[in-house]
Amino acid sequence: MSAVHPFLAHAPGELVSAFVVPLVSLAYLLGVDWRMTLITLVPVALALAPVPLMATPARLREQREVDAAKGRITGSVIEFVQGISVVKAYGGAERAHHRFLAAKDAFVATFDRWVRGLSRPAAAVQLVLSPPFVLLVVLTGGAVLVTHGALPPADLLPFLLLGLGLTAPVAALGHGFDDLSAAGRAVGRIRDVLSVPPLPEPGHPVPVRGGRVELRGVHFGYDGGHEVLRGVDLVLEPGTVTALVGPSGSGKSTLARLLPRFSDPTRGAVLLGGADLRRVAGPELYRTVSCVFQDVRLLRASLADNIALAVPRADHAAVVRAARLAGVHDRILRLPRGYASVVGEDAGLSGGEAQRIALARALLADTPVLVLDEATSFADPETERAVRRALAAREGERTVLVIAHRRETVADADVAVLLVDGVIAEQGRPAELLARGGAFARFWEAHGPAPADGASTGRGVRP
Ligand SMILES: Nc1ncnc2c1ncn2[C@@H]1O[C@H](COP(=O)(O)OP(=O)(O)OP(=O)(O)O)[C@@H](O)[C@H]1O
Ligand SMILES: [Mg+2]
Repeated sequence: MSAVHPFLAHAPGELVSAFVVPLVSLAYLLGVDWRMTLITLVPVALALAPVPLMATPARLREQREVDAAKGRITGSVIEFVQGISVVKAYGGAERAHHRFLAAKDAFVATFDRWVRGLSRPAAAVQLVLSPPFVLLVVLTGGAVLVTHGALPPADLLPFLLLGLGLTAPVAALGHGFDDLSAAGRAVGRIRDVLSVPPLPEPGHPVPVRGGRVELRGVHFGYDGGHEVLRGVDLVLEPGTVTALVGPSGSGKSTLARLLPRFSDPTRGAVLLGGADLRRVAGPELYRTVSCVFQDVRLLRASLADNIALAVPRADHAAVVRAARLAGVHDRILRLPRGYASVVGEDAGLSGGEAQRIALARALLADTPVLVLDEATSFADPETERAVRRALAAREGERTVLVIAHRRETVADADVAVLLVDGVIAEQGRPAELLARGGAFARFWEAHGPAPADGASTGRGVRP
């Protein structure tokens, strides 16, 4: 956008002012003597001669390479800064720095090649447009005409005074052309981003009736890669908590992200309140489903605003109630400005605390469907308790899907679902599944969710 800005905002005005005065001068000079006008325009013609050389497809390609090399430098700097703790912890500063140096060297080489081809014609143009050269041409030509008696000596004066101004549009054109070409390339990159097709919104939305969620023969793969979900049939009933378990990478988070329609299934359908998600209007969907994901994102706003994100008009008491339920109220009060503390300024939160803020946000939204991707940071007992309390407070008919890494969460759930390699291996009541001794029991035994610290607080479902 900043590359497009100068062209749109400044170039029109600058070009107009650069052209109007010279064009008026030109008209006047033509009235004085047309031969002398042609002589005065010789430097301009010389300056325009190399322009075709500077705007070849090869040059444009080189210019795009320079842009890309610049982008790689920025990328390597951002990567280095964002990953600085990892780099430090593993003593890889040298190597990480090396990536930056390599990007820098590549940029210098590309830029050098580009500028080398450009510098000679550019210097020639500047020379030709410089006042001494213009005066030299005008004086020489004028002297010839005057000595032959073809021009009254006084008529030479306007050409000396105004001739210098005629070169201004060429210089302005040069800048304008640079801006135009930079803007053109930037527009290309913006178009690349905008051309990513959005999920289509339904033309005739279907209303959502209740919070029943159903996955019917759902297949899903990321960008043509291998299928992560391979035919999932699952029903989440209102008023129940379903715990989704499975080995890392089995597709649990992928499945959870289909509920708020972050993606559409490649085959099969996700139904919400009897309606195919593809036929549900966006606003209605987000009034129905709220989520807490593994990677929590808090906005640079006050904690109160963060919690009230979905319900901006919520009164303070409601915000506090949600924060209490999520077990983060006391922590917020310990901050210097309490609920007015701003994330990233005076509210420094741990991963688990941030997760609880996100949980409070989801609880305040009070949607019929709640999706919780229990992160590893939920492993802290306080957060764990908060989640259990939140899930236990099943006000009304809420449908809850929780991706569980804790035995207690699974034990408390009404239904446990084991996902292995994108297919449901087993599902049923947790206690019954354990008693049956099938795939779920074996998973629980072998690499199941970690037991809670210390004594069990579960309902006594222990392997
Ligand atoms: N954005 C993505 N693009 C491409 N592949 C992805 C993407 N997100 C996940 N995957 C792949 O999909 C598979 C399932 O990932 P997913 O995050 O659903 O696993 P998970 O069951 O939630 O694991 P975990 O318990 O570690 O959170 C993995 O093989 C992963 O590499
Ligand atoms: Mg996951």
